[in-house]
Amino acid sequence: MTDPVTDRTDTTPDLSSRDPNWWRQAVVYQVYPRSFADADGDGLGDLKGITRRLNHLAALGVDALWLSPFYPSELADGGYDVADYRDVDPRLGSLDDFDALAAEAHRLGLKVIVDLVPNHTSHQHVWFQEALASGPGSPARDRYVFRDGRGTHGELPPTDWQSVFGGSAWQRVPDGQWYLHLFAPQQPDLNWANEEVRADFRTTLRFWSDRGVDGFRVDVAHALAKDLSEPLRDLGAPELSSEDALSHFPPGTHPFYDRDEVHEIYRDWRKILDSYRPPRMAVAEAWVQGARRTLYARPDELGQAFNFEYLQAGWDADELRQVITDSLDSAHQAGASATWVLSNHDVVRHTSRLMLPPGTDDNAWLLSGGHAPEVDESHGLRRARAATLLMLALPGSSYVYQGEELGLPEVADLPVEVLQDPIWEQTGRVRKGRDGCRVPLPWTTTGPSYGFGAAGAWLPQPPSFASYAVEAQDGVEGSPLELYRTALRLRRKLLEGESLAWADDTPPGVLDFTRHDGWRCVTNLSDAAVRLPAGEVLLTSAPLEDGQLPPDTTAWIA
Ligand code: NOJ
Repeated sequence: MTDPVTDRTDTTPDLSSRDPNWWRQAVVYQVYPRSFADADGDGLGDLKGITRRLNHLAALGVDALWLSPFYPSELADGGYDVADYRDVDPRLGSLDDFDALAAEAHRLGLKVIVDLVPNHTSHQHVWFQEALASGPGSPARDRYVFRDGRGTHGELPPTDWQSVFGGSAWQRVPDGQWYLHLFAPQQPDLNWANEEVRADFRTTLRFWSDRGVDGFRVDVAHALAKDLSEPLRDLGAPELSSEDALSHFPPGTHPFYDRDEVHEIYRDWRKILDSYRPPRMAVAEAWVQGARRTLYARPDELGQAFNFEYLQAGWDADELRQVITDSLDSAHQAGASATWVLSNHDVVRHTSRLMLPPGTDDNAWLLSGGHAPEVDESHGLRRARAATLLMLALPGSSYVYQGEELGLPEVADLPVEVLQDPIWEQTGRVRKGRDGCRVPLPWTTTGPSYGFGAAGAWLPQPPSFASYAVEAQDGVEGSPLELYRTALRLRRKLLEGESLAWADDTPPGVLDFTRHDGWRCVTNLSDAAVRLPAGEVLLTSAPLEDGQLPPDTTAWIA
């Protein structure tokens, strides 16, 4: 059996690699290392597996890859529980393997972005172990957020703050104190008012920048600064612990999200990132709405912030147009470049999500095994293809999640016995969690774990994955993979400027904009076919019908 991925050699080195602004309109491919490719056959993806498959990314035509965490971790939260920020998990490889990966990526013209997780460490981190051993009031405890409990014997948590994953955000330790964990109990929050914490992350930024990484994705960027002044404040209701509740607070006053002081940290980091040539880029993961989010993307801070409003928008022309316009405006005002993302390792894959009726509770849908409502996979794929061409035509950077180039749907029917996401247990088995978008990739149509590795995969792949495999799509005209390849090739040629102009006379349900004279994008989200504007049709997400643009289709026109 030939391997379609490693056979491809038609890659063009990126000659603009010294351009300090390379990231402003880059297409970045997110690799979730555990699920990408498994070279040593232990069922878990690894760095050597990624290196072997880098040709896939080069042939796809992306500019960069972002690696979700590969650091030593007990995987209590898929690696976002980091035990050592400056090493590689032995199950995933070694620092030498990382260097080999980065060298090969650079040889192929691909930039490398790593994930930085500064809000919390793993409870296995040496600092947390020291904090437990050192006792109340010690300098080691001050690196985290330890407090005495309330109640006669300190038996109640210090505040009513809730964890994102469910339940109290406080965990008691044997000597009676409590520590804060906004995520899983295995992820104690760091105290960013502690100078040693700040200094250590500067060292980590330099460590990876010195190894040649081109940028950083910053996890939970909006939570580092916290109001820890005594007495700690209760929020009053469990839902007020969520980012969704930020609008209930005057801007910058929530006790742990999006506080104004957080920006000092990024201004400090920017000095370090700018001391490299070319400067290292950074992108904030900040679940904060609108103009407040773009503050993280100011040029003297991180430069970019993920645009989750775009991801959360429904398949609706008016809503999308509003989000696109607002996003471009606020990015422009902040001096940042806009970002667009449809899928990542935390959300239902968009091939499935875009088919769910507005207002569907994703969790209820996952608990139904993807049956209530039933999702038509081929229709979902049609929408996803249209959404992709729309996204790739927008000014700014697009972040693509591994497997979306294959059109992978969410694996909604994972049996609960195999679930690994801490959300499942921490919510008392109420929320099914994010495993359905983390199922290992299919590379070949047959073989153990469809070419993912020599053994099985750490999450079971459904039999339908065979038809989505790279091998099934490589060279097949009209396949999702070939659509991405063609679109990315064309995009490189057409890219110019960072603005767009909407057409005036658009029929309802249609998005129509021009990037510049040579590139127009029309998406039909209505139920009826529409006439296309004059011009040469460069690419469509589905065939035209009688020369018209059918529903759920995008066309690029010159
Ligand atoms: C955001 C990451 O994307 C997610 O996977 C993780 O669980 C949380 N941050 C906590 O680190």
